[in-house]
Amino acid sequence: MHSVGTVTAFGRDLGDGYTLTLRDLTTIEPVLALVHANRDRLRAAEPWAWGPQTLDGATLHTERLLGQFAMDRALPCVIRADDRIVGAASLSFDPYLGQASLGYWVDAGLEGRGVVRRAATVLVEVARARGTARLEIRTAVDNTRSRGLAERLGFTHEGTLRSGMPLGPNRVDVAVYGRVL
Ligand SMILES: CC(C)(COP(=O)(O)OP(=O)(O)OC[C@H]1O[C@@H](n2cnc3c(N)ncnc32)[C@H](O)[C@@H]1OP(=O)(O)O)[C@@H](O)C(=O)NCCC(=O)NCCS
Repeated sequence: MHSVGTVTAFGRDLGDGYTLTLRDLTTIEPVLALVHANRDRLRAAEPWAWGPQTLDGATLHTERLLGQFAMDRALPCVIRADDRIVGAASLSFDPYLGQASLGYWVDAGLEGRGVVRRAATVLVEVARARGTARLEIRTAVDNTRSRGLAERLGFTHEGTLRSGMPLGPNRVDVAVYGRVL
């Protein structure tokens, strides 16, 4: 951690050249390029991926996330392999409920190497250190990889939200995973 003005930035070493660092204005274009490169697989999992994914939209989204970070409501991060951005992993905090949600995605070329598991493990520890009582991961029921990762991280499948989120023209059931810290 180091200070940038009044805001404390975030960064962790994940080993083997991988790092987890705060998103900032310099990550907007590389993240957008990675979203475009992974558009079809992201659309199979993430409602936001169905949006137009323009530079203006990505800039507004990142500014909003950084505003939430500054208010201690979010920890939006990118995963890097050396200097190249290869994915994202983030926490979103609900201070009133004392809980947070965890989200993640990674470039197809780096899938299955344990990198997201390492990033998510760091974020679980950050949430615990902040006194967060409970973490959630929500994922489409047929997202086998995400569900496997949630279970690998020690989360429990607590239930299923019928028709819980849109994926383009369809709505899909959502598996809710929880971990009490
Ligand atoms: C979901 C996603 C992030 C998983 O990434 P990944 O690279 O497979 O994750 P990792 O390799 O870091 O970790 C997966 C862990 O879960 C374990 N696992 C358990 N069951 C698994 C399964 N059915 N499939 C894959 N991994 C499984 C793996 O063994 C691994 O643990 P390990 O590191 O100890 O071996 C990736 O597939 C992705 O980006 N998908 C598209 C976007 C998406 O679905 N995002 C999540 C929306 S909720």
